[in-house]
Amino acid sequence: MFISAVSNRYWEITISPDFLFISLISALWIMLPAYLPNSVAAVLGGGKAIDGGRVFSDGRRIFGDGKTWRGLFSGIIAGIVIGIIQIRVRDAAGLLILPELTLPVVILLAAGALLGDLVKSFFKRRLNKERGAEWILADQYDFVLGAFVMLLLFQYAWVITTITPLILLWIVLITPLLHRVVNIIGYLTGVKDVPW
Ligand code: CTP
Ligand code: MG
Repeated sequence: MFISAVSNRYWEITISPDFLFISLISALWIMLPAYLPNSVAAVLGGGKAIDGGRVFSDGRRIFGDGKTWRGLFSGIIAGIVIGIIQIRVRDAAGLLILPELTLPVVILLAAGALLGDLVKSFFKRRLNKERGAEWILADQYDFVLGAFVMLLLFQYAWVITTITPLILLWIVLITPLLHRVVNIIGYLTGVKDVPW
């Protein structure tokens, strides 16, 4: 309805402030179950490393000490819990303008995010980067890519009906910014050793 209220000319539709704002909120809404697992893993992670200390054929760690079972599971559970809360809030408050999330979508967002992070660490070790070393772009987009690969594989219809080009553009723009801000907060509060 906000479309017809503005104009029926396409270029004006796409740049209307309402449309931009709703797309931004939609991008944040969709990505919250994928963003949260990273922070929760950083706060609650620790203990046994997923690779159990084992090394790959190149003699370096498979994933490294920054990828732990506790971080993986606590992060995924946190992403699923926030997603379930979002599903209920949207229904209860009648916020139907927001994109619809479903349980399978939320599970794939949360699990995909931390699996993407894990795969990134695998390649980071192959490139001989130490745990915590910065790897521009990969560090910022690993969880978005992981989440999208999972969604495209198992919830393709949801992706093409829900993710508009503008929502995708917002995700690409806000992800590195949010990542930076959250990591600086993590660094200042002592959760992370480095601000990235
Ligand atoms: N973490 C964890 N388990 C995971 C993911 C993250 O325990 N599956 C915790 C670790 O304490 C990790 C912190 O969250 O140090 C930050 O995550 P991230 O930046 O992804 O890890 P790095 O330590 O930077 O390791 P890498 O170089 O492999 O990215
Ligand atoms: Mg890191």
